Amino acid sequence: MAKATTLYVCAQCGGQTSKWQGQCPHCLAWNTLSETVQETRPRRFSALAASGEVVRLTDVQAVETPRLATGLAEFDRVLGGGLVGGGVVLLGGDPGIGKSTLLLQALADINARAKTLYVSGEESAAQIALRGNRLGLGAAIPLLTEIRLEAILGTLKAEQPQVAVIDSIQTVYTEQLQSAPGSVAQVRECAQELTRHAKQAGITILLVGHVTKEGTLAGPRVLEHIVDTVLYFEGDTGSSFRLIRAFKNRFGAVNELGVFAMTDKGLKGVANPSALFLQRDDREAPGSCVVVAQEGTRPLLVEIQALVDAAHAPNPRRLTVGLDGNRLAMLLAVLHRHGGVPCYDQDVFVNAVGGVKITEPAVDLAVAMAVVSSLRSQPIPHKLAVFGEVGLAGEIRPVQRGQERLKEAAKLGFTQALCPKANLPKGKISGMEVKGVGSLAEALEYFRGL
Ligand code: TYD
Ligand code: MG
Repeated sequence: MAKATTLYVCAQCGGQTSKWQGQCPHCLAWNTLSETVQETRPRRFSALAASGEVVRLTDVQAVETPRLATGLAEFDRVLGGGLVGGGVVLLGGDPGIGKSTLLLQALADINARAKTLYVSGEESAAQIALRGNRLGLGAAIPLLTEIRLEAILGTLKAEQPQVAVIDSIQTVYTEQLQSAPGSVAQVRECAQELTRHAKQAGITILLVGHVTKEGTLAGPRVLEHIVDTVLYFEGDTGSSFRLIRAFKNRFGAVNELGVFAMTDKGLKGVANPSALFLQRDDREAPGSCVVVAQEGTRPLLVEIQALVDAAHAPNPRRLTVGLDGNRLAMLLAVLHRHGGVPCYDQDVFVNAVGGVKITEPAVDLAVAMAVVSSLRSQPIPHKLAVFGEVGLAGEIRPVQRGQERLKEAAKLGFTQALCPKANLPKGKISGMEVKGVGSLAEALEYFRGL
């Protein structure tokens, strides 16, 4: 067995030192050294003379691994149909958003069918039991309150659960490293060891990860490379709705969305979420436009609000919530060049209502319309739904599943729709008047005539 020592490795040049320094002695870069465990390897590799066995792809028996359902249909949906043996899932999200609640609920359901283990480094067994009681779970889930990696791995080997939850990876530490729990080196090393165990033993491990203020996982980005699936919890802690988005998934589609409502009995799946973010009153206000977004495989209608106001500083502000800020800057430039709508002396704020994040470009046209509506103080009709991507040449580009989006909007009582020309439906959609546009100028013309 090779002896393990700790080393400091430069992220830029790969140079190694035995002590931590602010500056890499090899490439002179600052703050690039991070602690790692280095196994001392035998000197002569030729003495090992090992070779791997090569197989042909067609000769390998492709076995579909059976999925283990979690009892929460929306959670299964983002996972791509359930948990996979040997798979490691990382669940990130703001504190208090419901990560521990969701995983405890899932384990309670799985516990009836397979062996489970809940490892907590944050809460005492009594606190978890209290939560279990509040959720009315009544399942005898094996608990372990532990933060030492070696002890956790030992317990996993002894107990042999099929599904294990580690809450959270930031609290776990290994004695092999001197740095504090939660440091980059500790988190990476522990995640790597746990992943190795999951693959070897063929068990599923769910890791809880904290996110920083900027919204990325605390600790290293490499955590995302180590695991098979990365899920993010989204949503306003002010509202009761919670979304889980698949950010990376080796066993399913990405950008799939699971929708939950936080109730006094824990998280409940919302099977029909399309109208969830449309709680508005009947008043028509300038700057509000409804987009038919497609998140994952389901259409989702979301209100986009824009506020355009004269800027009082030399650099006007552009601020987005739930939307891409760079994309807004681009849209404002296109609006100016190809639509003749100047916003260079205006502050522009855009918000996707309800704490939902919209990542697809189909929201472009709705953002542009909301901005123009606010600038001109002309409300957009209440029953108009909009979608379409805006190109740099001012063209409106088609988006995926146009027909489906239109149908969903019609189902929810929208009587008018504005969409890319190429997305115009072949037949008529009952109760809905659809306008197809090929350019931003055409869309603005249509808006003027409303
Ligand atoms: P928690 O699951 O501990 O979040 P995390 O592990 O992501 O930090 O917190 C869940 C939050 O939801 C907490 O603020 C209390 C609330 N809650 C409910 O509204 N209903 C419930 O049944 C439970 C258990 C928690
Ligand atoms: Mg928690």
